[in-house]
Amino acid sequence: MATLPVFNKRILDRSAVLVVCAFAALFLAQCSGGGGSAIFVIEPLPYSQDALAPTISADTMGFHYDKHYAGYVEKANALTKGMRFDGKTAEAVIAKTAGEASKAAVFNNAAQAWNHAFFFKCLKPDGGGAPEGLLAEMIDATFGSFVEFKALFTTAAKDQFGSGWVWLVLDEGKLAVVTSANADTPLAHGLIPLFTVDVWEHAYYLDYQNRRVDFVQSVLDNLANWDFVAAQLEKAQPPKA
Ligand SMILES: [Fe+2]
Repeated sequence: MATLPVFNKRILDRSAVLVVCAFAALFLAQCSGGGGSAIFVIEPLPYSQDALAPTISADTMGFHYDKHYAGYVEKANALTKGMRFDGKTAEAVIAKTAGEASKAAVFNNAAQAWNHAFFFKCLKPDGGGAPEGLLAEMIDATFGSFVEFKALFTTAAKDQFGSGWVWLVLDEGKLAVVTSANADTPLAHGLIPLFTVDVWEHAYYLDYQNRRVDFVQSVLDNLANWDFVAAQLEKAQPPKA
């Protein structure tokens, strides 16, 4: 059998290594969804962690944002590594995994990442009070008054069994108060989220223990960012002819 000269064999060895490396890089790119970047990011808080006290203490915000929210984002990225989604957005992951028993872990972490990012934007220091403009008109027309809306919202929070979320949503153009259990999200049900309060115990137990209604009432009275809610409503309106 003819043997290759030593220098040619070294060249072949190097070529083989390069080919293997190229395939490895391609494989890793495929595994990361083609673009190499993570789908989920930890969105920065639009205020400092102690800015919502005393309604939400810095301790609660620290655990909620740094541990719970960051944990959902990290796990959602780990679980979606190698999966392909149109647009590579959190919304696309939620849409593709909703109702799929085999994808429950992906859905739960993706939805929790999205729900938390949305929830934190629904709050602001010195918020609360009553909304104005179209949002106020629609609340009055739908629920009778803002006071009646708040009563309905806090009752829904009280009645949500176990962990979950309370939402103000648009359902086919009409306002509605709905709850979702655990990680579930209105996005998975064709509803447009406008406002939410997290009623998992980690959201309030350090500050309120079992007094969930007091927590929700205080959020509505002191932290609700109605400007953000009005902006969501505006975005959801059909374009004017
Ligand atoms: Fe939470």
